[in-house]
Amino acid sequence: MARRKKIYEGKAKILYEGPEPGTIVQYFKDDATAFNAEKKDVIEGKGVLNNRLSEYFMSGLNQIGVPTHFIKRLNMREQLVRQVEIVPLEVIVRNYAAGTMSKRLGIEEGTQLPRPIVEYCYKDDSLGDPLVTEEHIAAFGWASQQDMDDILSLALRVNDFLSGVMMAVGIKLVDFKIEVGRVYDGDFMRLIIADEISPDSCRLWDIETGQKLDKDVFRRDLGSLTDAYTEVAKRLGVMPKTSTPITKPTLIN
Ligand code: CDP
Repeated sequence: MARRKKIYEGKAKILYEGPEPGTIVQYFKDDATAFNAEKKDVIEGKGVLNNRLSEYFMSGLNQIGVPTHFIKRLNMREQLVRQVEIVPLEVIVRNYAAGTMSKRLGIEEGTQLPRPIVEYCYKDDSLGDPLVTEEHIAAFGWASQQDMDDILSLALRVNDFLSGVMMAVGIKLVDFKIEVGRVYDGDFMRLIIADEISPDSCRLWDIETGQKLDKDVFRRDLGSLTDAYTEVAKRLGVMPKTSTPITKPTLIN
């Protein structure tokens, strides 16, 4: 098969031209970055886990009528997705205070919020993805008022779905980030969930012990990131129990 054309390489994924017009192949790398790429490492097996976990969440959302870009998983590290025009916003939904919200507002990490709070950040690494209001979004034309109504409703539906799925396996969904994209069916434009949903973009805490099972393990040097993500995958029944190890076995001469 001819080598696929690379369209874009980001911090954790590479996008290649898909087999049909309007499709893209999304490749999950093992690279981990945090603090706007100031901290970097290669975590063997992370890409395989995130490919599987994102498939699990996105296909579940598709099944309950929340539209996503996910079409099918192709192999261990690649999935076929619909090409979208990304809305330049990171949409964050929070159920408990953590991370930047705790810092900004002085609320202790883990405090339950009175209701889910949705925040928007402008997607620009060179600016460190600054928090913006709907005023900025409307004034600069990043999304219309109708788009914002749709984005809010998508974000809250993802929150309900993910919270339930996680709670069923003893995990608290503290917060998460999604990205949305535009697809065109003729003249009709609609918004769908794009990018990935994985422990790279969520905060997941064990309900009993509070143990962190997400990228904070990497950000805060709390142990093995692969072990944490494997634990999430195992609880959800995503990784086949007898699958080959994700990390290469050490060769003993
Ligand atoms: O994660 P950090 O403390 O930098 O920022 P946050 O605003 O507290 O992040 C809220 C949630 O969005 C966390 O689950 C992050 O993992 C996720 N997030 C992300 O996936 N990508 C970003 N660029 C920013 C936040």
